[in-house]
Amino acid sequence: MIKLQREYDELAEMYEKNRGIFDMSGILSSYWNFLECPSGKLLDLGCGAGEPVARWFIDRNWLVEGIDYSRKMLELAAKYAPEMKVYYADMREIGLTDHLYDGITAVYSLFHLPIPDQIKMFAKISRWLKPGGKFLFTYATKEYTGLEEFSGFKDFMGQNLFYSHTTPLKLEKQLTAANLEICSQKYLEIGGETFLWVIAESTKLN
Ligand SMILES: C[S@@+](CC[C@H](N)C(=O)[O-])C[C@H]1O[C@@H](n2cnc3c(N)ncnc32)[C@H](O)[C@@H]1O
Repeated sequence: MIKLQREYDELAEMYEKNRGIFDMSGILSSYWNFLECPSGKLLDLGCGAGEPVARWFIDRNWLVEGIDYSRKMLELAAKYAPEMKVYYADMREIGLTDHLYDGITAVYSLFHLPIPDQIKMFAKISRWLKPGGKFLFTYATKEYTGLEEFSGFKDFMGQNLFYSHTTPLKLEKQLTAANLEICSQKYLEIGGETFLWVIAESTKLN
């Protein structure tokens, strides 16, 4: 079992109990406005316990699929978002149909992958999205780690978790290379943590 997978299994219950500290209402409303779809299909990468993200979209009549490699998180998701179709898998290893999703989210999850894996994920996400589909994700920056570029460990809720990021400028180049164009990026302090919140659009039929 991967170290981070085990750590999220251990964290799952405490994380879910404290999830309300990180209020997603503003960022989800902003993403919703970019989606311009009254109903659609969402893929949530690192879906955790299925709320608030999956729950928010299910309540708006979207079909939601979630991927997570923490069994404990998915057990909680069965309670909070039973309508979500879940894949117990490492997001880097799953094969999915191209051009299927109107939206893909990676809320507080993608930053746990090493940068080369993030780059590979951008290419897959771009393919999995319909042209014009939107990708929302949380990006760590120096506002979180104190360094321009970072690959290492930080404490979160008593666990020493792996995080990785480059600079926002290099991130933009990585996204462009994957045919993902940034629609919006803003630093938000939520629950005492500042991250860059990015919304990007799949620009081509890859
Ligand atoms: C901080 S939690 C966020 C959960 C949820 N997105 C939320 O906003 O509450 C990060 C989640 O990403 C999952 N995760 C991290 N890396 C993953 C990977 N490579 N494949 C699948 N899930 C992953 C973890 O198991 C964990 O449930």
